[in-house]
Amino acid sequence: MPASSAARLDVSFQSLKDKREDAVGLLVAEGPEFGQAGEAMNKASDGYLSRAAEAAGFKGKAKSSVEILAPAGLKEKRLILIGGGVAKKAEENDWVMAGGSAFAKLDTRKASSASLVVEIAGKTKLAEHEIAAAMALGAYLRSYKFEKYLTKKREDEDEPEQDGLQRLVVHCADPKKAEKAFERQKAVGDGVMLARDLVNEPANVLGPVEFAERAQALEEVGIEVEVLEVKDLKKLKMGALLAVAQGSPRPARVVVMRWNGGKKNDEPVAFVGKGVVFDTGGISIKPAAGMEDMKGDMGGAACVVGLMHALAARKAKVNAVGIIGCVENMPSGEATRPGDIVTSMSGQTIEVLNTDAEGRLVLSDIMWYVQDRYKPKMMIDLATLTGAIMVALGKNFAGLFCNNDELAAGITDASKATDEKTWRMPLDKSFHKMIDSKNADVKNLGGRWGGACTAAAFLERFVKDKETPWAHIDLAGTAMDGTRNDINQSWGSGWGVRLLDRLVADKYEG
Ligand code: BES
Ligand code: MN
Ligand code: ZN
Repeated sequence: MPASSAARLDVSFQSLKDKREDAVGLLVAEGPEFGQAGEAMNKASDGYLSRAAEAAGFKGKAKSSVEILAPAGLKEKRLILIGGGVAKKAEENDWVMAGGSAFAKLDTRKASSASLVVEIAGKTKLAEHEIAAAMALGAYLRSYKFEKYLTKKREDEDEPEQDGLQRLVVHCADPKKAEKAFERQKAVGDGVMLARDLVNEPANVLGPVEFAERAQALEEVGIEVEVLEVKDLKKLKMGALLAVAQGSPRPARVVVMRWNGGKKNDEPVAFVGKGVVFDTGGISIKPAAGMEDMKGDMGGAACVVGLMHALAARKAKVNAVGIIGCVENMPSGEATRPGDIVTSMSGQTIEVLNTDAEGRLVLSDIMWYVQDRYKPKMMIDLATLTGAIMVALGKNFAGLFCNNDELAAGITDASKATDEKTWRMPLDKSFHKMIDSKNADVKNLGGRWGGACTAAAFLERFVKDKETPWAHIDLAGTAMDGTRNDINQSWGSGWGVRLLDRLVADKYEG
């Protein structure tokens, strides 16, 4: 097996005066308006940059660019004017996106390093060093590739040692400040890419045990990790989670991750993730077409692990607990059958009418456990829970179910800031009626209509204290194979890490 994922993009910061690489991206605000460094380059090339911009009809609009090769009077071999858009209106995420787009433009040829000159003429909402750091994050995220299993590619290439852009030097007025600002961005970016790696990894490599090991590696950034094995889960009476796992020869794991960056006795915020490493549907087996996508049925858990990494790596001033339930849903002679009745840790009995509605079974036990043990002041679960949420919202919105308007507003705000879109969906008594069972306290199937809503209602029964603000995010559409954009070209998207990091930063720190 190939060792590890490709090395991350090496990002560094230098001043505007420092020597530039052969390939240079030059940020140009709408107008087009050059900054001072750009003006100087324009002058040195005898106005060639302005003439080229004009000839190409380049006005500095966001996402537009002009490539200039070997301009006379300049040392650059390749200069790309990169549209910065209406700089005075741009929010942080616009700069992140611009950075991703700039990376893509610089990466089209096989240069291993490039410079990006970040200097903006006129007023901006963010300070220039923050813009440089935000753009660097965008480039960092855009550079992500999952190519660890491509063994042929490198041999076949003309220049086997070169693999696109490996190093980006961001030139700005205050590189020290930008570097400092990027530390935090990088922590979050690494969390996003960790989540992508986990989602992209095939299920033969990433079973429940291996997933738990990857989560355990967070000890390196200062997270306390505890791995519960099957004997522990039996002792805790997690009958619902174990009912899902029992069809697979690969044993279940529950991983508890703690980051204690807040005040000593402050109750934690809790994040709960569905970690079904592969979902065949079990005895209620899925059709063959597209089943391979079910290697990503641990997108919720991947998001939680990525988030915990981000919080620890940027030393967030918060107490947070992350919990993931890692299981494989397989049909076998030992698998749970439709009609089986299992007892969850909460004591509630569940009639399993469809073994493919397994995510809610896993979550019911770990939600209960995390509340029982940590009394969190807020709890958010993340799960690739239903196909129905994609029917309702498509691949670009995650479903948000929430029992508390303030929490919902916080999530919506954070979601707008990072452009990881969420849409609020209903929790209602009528959905509870649909999951009442004649034979047990609840059934895991709600019938034909409102599948995402009955799934959420099921989870609501496992909110121990009804006063606890709780949100359920169904990311079945967004965690994998979602809409590709300027900062993500990967199948596993890492969706939600930036969003939740932002929520924590805005609402739960200090
Ligand atoms: N993991 C699936 C949901 C899913 C489907 C996620 C497609 C991502 C892409 C989940 O476990 C599931 O199978 N849900 C069923 C529930 C049904 C049996 C009530 C579904 O949505 O069809
Ligand atoms: Mn399923
Ligand atoms: Zn599933």
